[in-house]
Formats: sequence, structure tokens, C-alpha cells
Amino acid sequence: MSEKKSFYITSTIFYPNANLHMGHVYTMTVCDIISRYQKLMGNDTYFLTGSDENTAKIVKAAKEKGQDIETFLKEITSGFKKLYSDLNISYDEFIQTTDKEKHWPGAIKMWNSLVESGDIYKSKYTGLYCPQCEAFYTEKEVVDGKCPMHNIPLDRLEEENYFFKLSKYTDEIKKRIESNELEILPNTRRNEILAQLGRGLEDISFSRPAHTVPHGIQVPNDPSQVMYVWCDALTSYISGIGYGRDEESLKKYWPADIQVIGKDILRFHAAIWPAMLLSAGLPLPKRLLVHGLITSGGQKMSKSIGNVIDPYELINTYGAEAVRYFIARKISLFEDGDMTVETFKKAYNGDLANGLGNLVSRIMTLAESNLSEPVTVPEKSIPDEFKNALDKFDINQAANIVWEKIAELDKEIQEKKPWATKDKEVIADLTVKLYTIARMLNPIMPETNAKIKALVKANKKPAEPLFLRKDA
Ligand code: MSP
Repeated sequence: MSEKKSFYITSTIFYPNANLHMGHVYTMTVCDIISRYQKLMGNDTYFLTGSDENTAKIVKAAKEKGQDIETFLKEITSGFKKLYSDLNISYDEFIQTTDKEKHWPGAIKMWNSLVESGDIYKSKYTGLYCPQCEAFYTEKEVVDGKCPMHNIPLDRLEEENYFFKLSKYTDEIKKRIESNELEILPNTRRNEILAQLGRGLEDISFSRPAHTVPHGIQVPNDPSQVMYVWCDALTSYISGIGYGRDEESLKKYWPADIQVIGKDILRFHAAIWPAMLLSAGLPLPKRLLVHGLITSGGQKMSKSIGNVIDPYELINTYGAEAVRYFIARKISLFEDGDMTVETFKKAYNGDLANGLGNLVSRIMTLAESNLSEPVTVPEKSIPDEFKNALDKFDINQAANIVWEKIAELDKEIQEKKPWATKDKEVIADLTVKLYTIARMLNPIMPETNAKIKALVKANKKPAEPLFLRKDA
């Protein structure tokens, strides 16, 4: 038997200062589809997610709610976990950066490694800080005195901080990206970061005064400072699999096969993170998949703009499977993709209620009334073209292939008219083809996959439509 390959995938870890919106759900669903596909292929897959908690945003949000940090975080992160469970997101570990047992040993080990490599120094700093990005901006980057990402006024901070020698690693990172040792998908993002690296990187402030985030991770040997949130958050990708506490598990999964991020945080993942790993003497991840952002009505979906879609608005009416379908098929992975409740409803009615759901009812009604026993189903029957798409992480193409097969099967029914001929061979063949479609749905729509497979195996038509039309 061939040995199982290990496959390690990470999502970004979100700030738990508010509930998640469809933008976050997008990242998680993309990760889950990739992870489920790898599991389906028999690989020893590990999918890490978590939450990014050592930030002043949390202090502020907890205060506004009149809660202590612990109670606040517990409430919000249980909401994350409930949402993931409702969406069938099958993560293996949820790492919280306030976890003193699982995360802190790794964060401290990382800091000490950076110090040992001579890459941390103390310096006075004056800069413009965006509390939303948790990042400093240079005068050149600022637009009308405001943050280029969030369009909010920046804080002028004057602090004595520890700095990380990011500049030292510019050339090495550039080399690794150019040689594809660190592959960046898609090409547009690879070019974007290579251009930034070409202009050079500046050293960055890697700590903050402890009073700004009292619950943060103290800098070793300096109680007056806590680690900069991105320093500790990026380290969660390895602390989550054992860095600083279980080297065996770390070796098993690191380097990551794929780290999935939104294009808004490319620089952190394609410059700062590789530099930290190089400084700590660790391998770089094999690849970064950088997806576009969901826009709503043409603007980036974000809480500060106020155009967010609450995932439950869709889950409660259309179901989680419909949300997963829409993400896989209707939002372009590498570009920005627009969505509104209206476009969602149209896709639901067209492709799920009238499309897939209707096909399942038609074929299984024919099967139940014409076949005396369930068809024999091939256990390994995933078409190569579908595998090729997902081997390239192209979830859009994979979903398109499934819906092409659905259309072909619809056409075949129209042509062969089995409701009139009652030809058992034709009906059995259609049923087996439906089963293959169900198998391909496994990573994209796991519940629908299971439902269709169960119907075929029992030779039963669905008791009720898989997707009820929504006309209201
Ligand atoms: N906590 C940091 C990430 C640390 S990773 C070590 C952070 N958190 S965040 O809560 O602001 O989430 C940003 C990420 O959420 C994006 O990179 C992306 O994965 C996802 N998205 C947030 N808004 C989004 C859209 N409108 N569209 C698609 N994804 C979006 O940054």
C-alpha cells in the first residue's frame, strides 16, 4: 500500500472582535473544500484555523460590551465554532493565540530564535499606525492622512520598540519566490509581491508597550513590552502543530502545503512571515493561495463599510450547502467577486432547486419505480478532470465540471425519454452517473453528497426536494 501523504493547510486566523461575515466564511469554505478533497484522496490531512486575540481591538471591543477579555473571547469564539459547525467546516484544530499551553511556548521560542539570529534590536520610532490593520504606514502610503485600506485616520505613535530586521531578508525571499520554492498563486499576486520586494523592505516594529495590550505575550526579559500582534499571530501556523511543545508533530506537517489568505494581507504572509521563518531556521511554506475579496454592491465587504452579509441570513433561508455551492462556483477565486442576497437567490433557484435537486428527483423517481434493486455503484469513480482541477486548487473549475455533468445528464434524460421507454438499462446507467456526480460533490457539498449516495444505495426517490424553490 502506498504511504499516506501528509497535507497541511492553514486558514488565516480572524480577529474575534466581532462576528464573522461572508468574507471570512469565504476563506474558511475554500480551505474546507481543499482539505476535504485531500482527505478524500486518502492523504493525512491537517487543517488548522484559529483566532487572533492579542490585539488592542479586543481590549476595546470587550470594554464596549462591559465584559472582561476572557468572557468576551469565549462568547465570540464559540460563535465562530458554531458557525463552522453549521457550515460543515471540518477543521482539525482551532488555535487561540491567548492559549498559554498551545500557543505561547511557540511564540516565545520564535522570539528567542529571532534574538539569537541577531535580528531584534531596540529603537525609538515615530509612525502612523492603523488600529484596524494593526500596522504602521509610511507617509508615502498614506492617502489624505488616512489608512489606504480602511480609509480611517491614523494614530501618530511615538514609542520605543523592538525592531525586526526584515530588510536583511529581502533578497533571500525574492529568490525563493522567483524559484517557486515559495509558490504564490495566482501570478498577479506573485508579481505584486516581487515588485514590493524589488523596492526593498524596511525593518519593522515587532513589539508594543505592554499597556496597549495587557493580555498580550510579554517579550522575553522585558515586562514593559508585548509582542507585536502579527509576530505572534503568524507564529500560530506552527505553534498550532507543535512548535515549541511537540517537535515530532511539527516535523510531520511543516512546511505547510498551502496557506490560504485574502489579498489584503499578502505582505504579511509573503514578506514578514518568510523572513521570520528564515531567521528562525525553519523551512518556508510550499505555497500561498491568495484569494480575492468579496465585494457587495461593488465595495469590499467589511464591517467598517457596513455592507456585510451575515452568513446566517443565507444559512437560515437557503441552507449551508447553498452557501458552500455559491462560494465554490459563483465567486471567482483569484479575483474580487461580487455577491448580494439577490444574486445568491438566483443561483440557488436556478442551479440547486431547478438544477441539481430536480435532477435527483427525476432520476431517483424513475429508479425507484423501474428497478427492482439498487444499482451497483463503482466506489472509485471520480473523473480525472475533476481531480486535475482540485490538484491545482481550482475550486471554480471543479464546481463547473460538476455542473457540466449535471447539464449533460439532464440532456441525456431529455433525449432518451426513460419515463416513456421505461428502459431499465438506461435508467440504471443514469443512476450510476448520478452517483458519480454525488461523489464529486463530496468536498464542495458534503451533506448533499451523502444524501444522494444514500438515495442511490437505497433505490429511493427523495421524500422531499433536496432544495425547495424560494419564490418570496
Ligand atoms: N488576524 C489577521 C490575520 C492573521 S493571520 C496570521 C486578520 N484578520 S481579519 O479578521 O481581518 O481577517 C482578514 C481575512 O479575512 C482576509 O485575509 C480574508 O481571508 C478574510 N476576509 C475578510 N474580508 C473579506 C472579504 N470581503 N472577502 C474575502 N475575504 C475576506 O487580518
